[in-house]
Amino acid sequence: MIRLAPTAQESAHACAAAISGWLNRAIVSRGKAFLAVSGGATPRLMFESLAAMRVNWRRVHLFFVDERCVPPTDEQSNYRLALGHLIAPAGIPEANVHRIRGEDDPAGAAHAYAAEILSLLGPTGSFDVVQCGVGDDGHTASLFPGDPLVLSRAGICAPVWVSQKNQHRVTLLPTPISGARHLCVLVHGEQKRSAVRRALSPAIEPIETPARILDRSSTVWFLSPPDIYEDSR
Ligand code: 6PG
Repeated sequence: MIRLAPTAQESAHACAAAISGWLNRAIVSRGKAFLAVSGGATPRLMFESLAAMRVNWRRVHLFFVDERCVPPTDEQSNYRLALGHLIAPAGIPEANVHRIRGEDDPAGAAHAYAAEILSLLGPTGSFDVVQCGVGDDGHTASLFPGDPLVLSRAGICAPVWVSQKNQHRVTLLPTPISGARHLCVLVHGEQKRSAVRRALSPAIEPIETPARILDRSSTVWFLSPPDIYEDSR
């Protein structure tokens, strides 16, 4: 499903409203909800809207789609972004926040994060909600063009060296992302028009445009401004 909005603010609010609805329904069904969010610049407005919505955060466990291997106080930290715009304003209990330890060695951080996910979701569990973004180059999470990990069909997360960013990261792998009960993608900016088109093009290979892994029939795409998307289907 494609949901277009005139502005980033309106798109972020619509995405937050969808996420809060999915979380609340998960809590009613199973007593708890598992949410994984992305970082970068786009989610900030969505976090702020989500933090103001009626969600029983004591029942929600917050995870991260990926993390830069930097300390949690670093301005590049995805955790730091979420802390300031979602976790603190929403009052998400610290015990419910499962960050990737960017300050540790990448392999060790990935191993610990996978164990934490397994301990909460179980070996066959799924995230209730995964929110992804898309980079100008068509990456998603920290799965960048040319990375064979985008083709993996097993495993929870992995350490990656992102040469395009000259940075170590830890990222969820395709399986937990595409296996989410609800997968939503929040993208803003005309500069991403080509990446969005490629992400939604069956003829494009995921190794070339990793955001292809997001293209499920049930995925909800929150896009702005409207001309970011050309209905070529
Ligand atoms: C990250 C994100 C990444 C992000 C895209 C888009 O750690 O950078 O998880 O996958 O969603 O890079 O980032 P922007 O929102 O900054 O354009």
